[in-house]
Amino acid sequence: MNLKDYIASVENFPKEGILFRDITPLMADGKAFKYATDQIVEFAKNKDVNLVVGPEARGFIFGCPVAYELNTGFIPVRKPGKLPRETVDVKYALEYGHNELSIHKGDIKKGSRVLIVDDLLATGGTIKATIDLVESQGGIVAGVAFLIELVDLNGRDLLKNYNVLSLIKY
Ligand code: PRP
Ligand code: MG
Repeated sequence: MNLKDYIASVENFPKEGILFRDITPLMADGKAFKYATDQIVEFAKNKDVNLVVGPEARGFIFGCPVAYELNTGFIPVRKPGKLPRETVDVKYALEYGHNELSIHKGDIKKGSRVLIVDDLLATGGTIKATIDLVESQGGIVAGVAFLIELVDLNGRDLLKNYNVLSLIKY
């Protein structure tokens, strides 16, 4: 199956000059969604993964079915102000300004073998922040999986020490 057939490319969204890769046609197609999920599950299988972590919001879409298939729990990484209990937070730089991501403190047990799942690797800021949160809690990043990698943005440079899967490259 060619997963690229299920990605819509939208010019000038969300801003002029950006070519947006829209994953929603893939999500809407049962066979393609299952195929993509299965590929990530396969990648995780020999890695002794016992926890899946995904960043809000699109990381939830692919992370949760993978966790279900692997019989592991899923821990959400969220944007500020969403988690009700004590959190660990990490700020990361954007081209202009910064973003912040959080997890509940103590939910990742020390030594957990974590698969991190997100839909897209662009500059790598989101995934690096997610890795930092996992490692700050003593989690071991066993693998990092994406549906899409935007190769020209060089996000992989931040992931040199990790096992990385991307199913579609642009
Ligand atoms: C998008 C995408 C990745 C991130 C990739 O998320 O879902 O998480 O950007 O970009 P980066 O590699 O440059 O960090 P976004 O923050 O737009 O939010 P969403 O998932 O809530 O839609
Ligand atoms: Mg995202």
